[in-house]
Amino acid sequence: MLQRRKFLQMGSLGMGGLFANKIFASGNSGIAKKPLVISTWDAGIAANKGAWEILKTGGRAFDAVEKGVMVTEESINCCVGLGGNPDREGIVTLDACIMDEYGNAGSVLALERIKHPISVARRVLEKTPHVYLVGDGAQMFALQQGFTLEPQKLSDEAAKEYKKWLDKSEYKPQINIEQKQGNLQDKGQIVAAPNRLSNGAFNHDTIGMLAIDANGNLSGSCTTSGMAFKMRGRVGDSPIIGAGLFVDNEVGAAVSTGLGEEVIKVCVTHLVVELMRQGYSPENACKEAVRRIVKHNGEKKSKEIQVGFLALNKKGEYGAYCIQSGFSFAVCNSDSHNELIASKHMI
Ligand code: GLY
Repeated sequence: MLQRRKFLQMGSLGMGGLFANKIFASGNSGIAKKPLVISTWDAGIAANKGAWEILKTGGRAFDAVEKGVMVTEESINCCVGLGGNPDREGIVTLDACIMDEYGNAGSVLALERIKHPISVARRVLEKTPHVYLVGDGAQMFALQQGFTLEPQKLSDEAAKEYKKWLDKSEYKPQINIEQKQGNLQDKGQIVAAPNRLSNGAFNHDTIGMLAIDANGNLSGSCTTSGMAFKMRGRVGDSPIIGAGLFVDNEVGAAVSTGLGEEVIKVCVTHLVVELMRQGYSPENACKEAVRRIVKHNGEKKSKEIQVGFLALNKKGEYGAYCIQSGFSFAVCNSDSHNELIASKHMI
């Protein structure tokens, strides 16, 4: 854990350095030279690094967004992948999707005991005539494709959290806890320190990643263990094309995080891309999507909800918006440039 913390600090200080501050300190939207990768939350720093290894050698954005989020799926201290929190029956179920520059999509829902759901989603895209595979069928397909069945076991952190949750078994979605910790700076500032729960784990449940490669092609990925202690069978926005992720290589791409039910109801990422098509900047498109969710729920209820959106257009401009403070995203476009930025927020 200590090693990981040090690495993240290097991501925003050592690796990024003063030069990076000059580029990104002006706000939470920007334009940077291609290729570029952006991803949600603090874990995005490490994930971007994985993606950058592909982008920097002229590789395809599609390969980069798979490799990038695999880093997060692998991390046992992150609420993504098999280290994530389980459903209320104590079983970890994973959702993931991926889209390429041709508008192809692959997705897995409620997948159990497979380490890299994003790679299974990619195989769905490449090897089947389908978009979604769910539950046992998704697992059977993964095994046929040579993936290994991992033990049915919670990570130490998830087991502790689950035990705590069982005390009350209260079924209530939690908004991101970074806000309660209050250690994110406001509105478009670079985040100095990674945000963790007191037990050292990241509290949020999703990583979404968007990339534009040297050829100007866009791709995106999204992977999650979903809402902690969800009802068995519950699926959120992350594997749903047009909700968790949408890519249109003519216009741009968007990815979402937060309370999936609210995101699904307005097909957020499709909306954000369509708004960019109409001329909205990535940040304004995300802001309009947030506004619709706040309008639908009313201001009082919206205080109990967090959603965050990230968008990238064909020119390499990016932006983000969320309901309330606490959402961060990472931007990388060179070996020395991988910064965590706090999103602007509505409430
Ligand atoms: N955004 C992740 C979920 O709601 O499952």
